[in-house]
Amino acid sequence: MSPFSSRTPRSFRPNRLTARAAALRQSGAPLIDLTMSNPTQAGIAYPEREILLALNDARALRYEPSPQGHPEARRSIAEWHARHEAAVDPDHLILASSTSEAYSWLFKLLCQPGDAVMTPRPSYPLFECLAELEGVRAVQYPLPDHWGWRLDIAELEIHLDPRARAVVVVNPNNPTGTYLRAEDWLRLQEFAATRGLAVISDEVFFDYAWRPASPRVSSLQEPHLALTFTLGGLSKTAALPQMKLGWIHVAGPEELRREALERLEWIADAYLPASAPVQLAAPRWLALAPEMQARVLNRVLGNLDALRACLDAGSAWRVAGGEGGWTAVVEAPRIHSGEEWALRCLEEAYVLVQPGFFYDFEREAFLAVSLLPAPEAFLEALGRLKQILRSI
Ligand SMILES: Cc1ncc(COP(=O)(O)O)c(C=O)c1O
Repeated sequence: MSPFSSRTPRSFRPNRLTARAAALRQSGAPLIDLTMSNPTQAGIAYPEREILLALNDARALRYEPSPQGHPEARRSIAEWHARHEAAVDPDHLILASSTSEAYSWLFKLLCQPGDAVMTPRPSYPLFECLAELEGVRAVQYPLPDHWGWRLDIAELEIHLDPRARAVVVVNPNNPTGTYLRAEDWLRLQEFAATRGLAVISDEVFFDYAWRPASPRVSSLQEPHLALTFTLGGLSKTAALPQMKLGWIHVAGPEELRREALERLEWIADAYLPASAPVQLAAPRWLALAPEMQARVLNRVLGNLDALRACLDAGSAWRVAGGEGGWTAVVEAPRIHSGEEWALRCLEEAYVLVQPGFFYDFEREAFLAVSLLPAPEAFLEALGRLKQILRSI
């Protein structure tokens, strides 16, 4: 019998594509990685001096733990949201070291072992792992592709697990880039409130709308008929994933909100993971965030234009959906699966893209392409892929 719990995987064998990419890399093949999601390695200019100066705060020399998070950091996050989405009370925020950690706290807060959280499909692949680490099941509900992967409450109802405790929405979804609409938000709130479910809304990419006029609503906005948690973090908001600061905003009926905050603070107190220098620097990093977001969005939109131009020029491939975020979904002809297309891109052009199954797309043949890489590398990759794009 294994001495280890089933919360960790039985096998760590990499999948076919990852194994092949590693082998090619090792053999010195000139790979271009269109799966990269790390903005600090994308050749984007950062205001380095200001970022580092923000860490130079003598108050960080003393340890004064605050489970809910440093009041100044919470105030600056509240002000950030008030400028962009909705009025936020700093006392309704809890700080963690990342949104991934925030998920784990919420699953601890809401679920008994064996309970379920409803997660969207296709979406961010980490949910299953984060849930399993808490002894919780991630049960998927489909986002219909014929509807641009928008939230469909009827699908959520059909797939609702009897032990579901919460519904996760990703706004905008990763990788499909679909934003929540006001009418979907109202229906989800009614659905959750009548069934005693909590809503967890991941808004890490909210600020990266491809068109300013895209119809969208933030989960920080009313109504909050159900207990509602909105997640954000410096990782995407300020393009600073290495600084490790995430947050949870708690909304909902007053009594439930008060108790959720009290219990979350208790969970946070068991770990106290957010470091003092980072919390003290957060207000200054958030002041830099508009500039960083503009640079990242400029990169994303430039690569998106290049991708569209390349696919429009006589290819059967197309950019599918997409309203925001750092990734484009590309639909390829169904003569191959997404994985087969990705392997062809890798073998024939040394270009690494993600097949749709990484995100649990319902059908073939989708690929996810990161829009963060340096424009020269991105254009070079598109040039190398031309043969494959025209192959039917
Ligand atoms: C939708 C989504 N949520 C959360 C995260 C993780 O963010 P953090 O770095 O704050 O853990 C990511 C990372 O890519 C993401 O795509």
